[in-house]
Amino acid sequence: MAVMAMAAVRCRLLLLSILIIYTITPSLSVGDDMLLLDFKESLKNSSALDSTWIKGTNPCDSKKPWVGVECNAGKGSFVINLYLHNLGLSGDINIDSLADLHGLRVISFENNKFSGPLPYFNRLTALKSLYLSGNEFSGEIPSDYFAKMGHLKKIELARNKFSGTIPDSLGKLDFLMTLKLEKNDFSGPVPSIAQNSLKEINLSFNKLQGEIPQTMSRFGTNPFEGNPDLCGPIVSKECKPQATTDESQASSGTKWVILTVVVAVLLVTILFKAKHKDDDFDIRGKENLDEVVQVHKRGGSNRRMLSSSRKGSSNSMHSSSRRGGSQHGKSVGDLVVINEEKGIFGLPDLMKAAAEVLGNGGIGSAYKAAMANGVSVVVKRLRDMNKLSKDAFDIEVRRLGRIRHQNILSPLAYHFRKEEKLLVSEYIPKGSLLFLLHGDRGIHHAELNWPTRLKIVKGVARGMGFLHTEFASYELPHGNLKSSNILLSSNYEPLLMDYALYPLISNTQSVQALFAYKSPEAILYQKLSPKSDVYCLGIVILETITGKFPSQYLNNQKGGTDVVQWIRQAISEKRVSELIDPEIASASKSSLGQMEKLLHIGAACTESKYDKRIEMKEAIRSIEETQEV
Ligand SMILES: *[C@@H]1O[C@H](CO)[C@@H](O)[C@H](O)[C@H]1NC(C)=O
Ligand SMILES: *[C@@H]1O[C@H](CO)[C@@H](O)[C@H](O)[C@H]1NC(C)=O
Repeated sequence: MAVMAMAAVRCRLLLLSILIIYTITPSLSVGDDMLLLDFKESLKNSSALDSTWIKGTNPCDSKKPWVGVECNAGKGSFVINLYLHNLGLSGDINIDSLADLHGLRVISFENNKFSGPLPYFNRLTALKSLYLSGNEFSGEIPSDYFAKMGHLKKIELARNKFSGTIPDSLGKLDFLMTLKLEKNDFSGPVPSIAQNSLKEINLSFNKLQGEIPQTMSRFGTNPFEGNPDLCGPIVSKECKPQATTDESQASSGTKWVILTVVVAVLLVTILFKAKHKDDDFDIRGKENLDEVVQVHKRGGSNRRMLSSSRKGSSNSMHSSSRRGGSQHGKSVGDLVVINEEKGIFGLPDLMKAAAEVLGNGGIGSAYKAAMANGVSVVVKRLRDMNKLSKDAFDIEVRRLGRIRHQNILSPLAYHFRKEEKLLVSEYIPKGSLLFLLHGDRGIHHAELNWPTRLKIVKGVARGMGFLHTEFASYELPHGNLKSSNILLSSNYEPLLMDYALYPLISNTQSVQALFAYKSPEAILYQKLSPKSDVYCLGIVILETITGKFPSQYLNNQKGGTDVVQWIRQAISEKRVSELIDPEIASASKSSLGQMEKLLHIGAACTESKYDKRIEMKEAIRSIEETQEV
């Protein structure tokens, strides 16, 4: 039944998306030539392209094709492959332009001089081949990086300087045939990457450690050579026995180790797809915690640990309910419920729930759990929140739990242990503004018409106004406003989350994960003030009205659009209206003036000199004055 219902919903969604694509496609067509030239502009040493990549000529002209560009045959042709190897290219890779090349399926930038972290090629979800071997890319690749790139057949990242663990999402690509990661600095365990489609894999000459998953035995030893710390039958090397767990100690501590393992396993095994989709209709990510652990952890002892810990957890639930919970709130199995609006639940309920990963980044990773009582929650693991003692933490978080405002998401419960802190909030079905704006191109974007976007901006402003009153004494009343932390209710009412956490965070590095640290005064003078929140609000406004992904959200500012610089320049050249997202500009022509007004407010909020930047109150007043028409 459920499956049928889901299928029906999917059909409806499919129909809807087809309709939407039909209606919006014409307004989206910017020429491939302009996109390629845009792309070229951010490259360095691209002179090799100069003789053929000429403005006004057709990149697909079969008589004089542009170097490295391949198009589909026939009329109305468009770019499908980009082969730019051995050209000494470096500089920025303009993902925005590439993402707008809707026909692009193959990217090959092998043997150039590109460096820095892997750019957001994962926004190009239709890509079939990605060849980047022989460059100087470095840094970690997020474990879910490939989660939405389900069409990939070939991935070649060999001979770079990538580090960290090999992304688990690679193991979920159903069509993957070739995976070449040799000669990098990957470390940690080898995830199971053994889908039937996979024909060729090379992980040699990295720094991988631990037992090679048995699932990968068919590839032999060759793909693993040059990793002296790998072990297991595949490389005929015994693994050192792991420290055994004494089952009698399977106490609540173990239980948390298990949940940590589960969350970690989930993070790296389940596709990073929930935020922008109607996950209720999505079966792929829904795995029972039990199954996840059993599938992904080898050896019987782990399974026993889990069942014993489950017993332990239900015991602790009973004992704690006998104790009647903690003094101030209902504590069920180590979970302190601070806001009972969604009922009382405990750790065992979370453990039993089907869970899926929502995302990982900023101040911690998050996953979603749908519990038996019908409530879906988001569980956020907070990294480095050790500044406060348990009592002080309790006071702070309870204060958040008491907040009632239409545009604020108040947490429901928390868990506090020295080595683990969780914050549980209600799950909001539409997901974040970030994913509605930049996620599945087309579908959600089209729902975001001008009245909706104005409603969102106004709601965000009201939420900020509330926080700036409620936490007026804080240096950063919000501290982490960005589109991924703005959730949208079913009628597009925005709800702010991850606010007012600054006093809880100890580790200076984690503090810097807060987006307010991207404000110019924080970068230049390590100065923070409530005006840093104004800056963040400005970015959200610019992002919402232009529809562009702000480069400010990226650590290296590679990719995305520097919306602050862009608006500044547009204002000086008196062409602000050109920045408005074409989708709302064309549909609501009579409101163009109001959209421009909002862009000007965004510009005033992102003024780089913080003493000249407008105050939050003033920003809110101007936003409230903006009219739909
Ligand atoms: C620039 O590109 C040329 C090939 O077009 C290459 O030979 C040269 O090494 C490159 N220069 C740098 C500094 O990368
Ligand atoms: C993997 O890469 C290494 C280093 O380039 C090479 O020597 C080896 O033959 C490759 N193995 C496979 C199976 O392609």
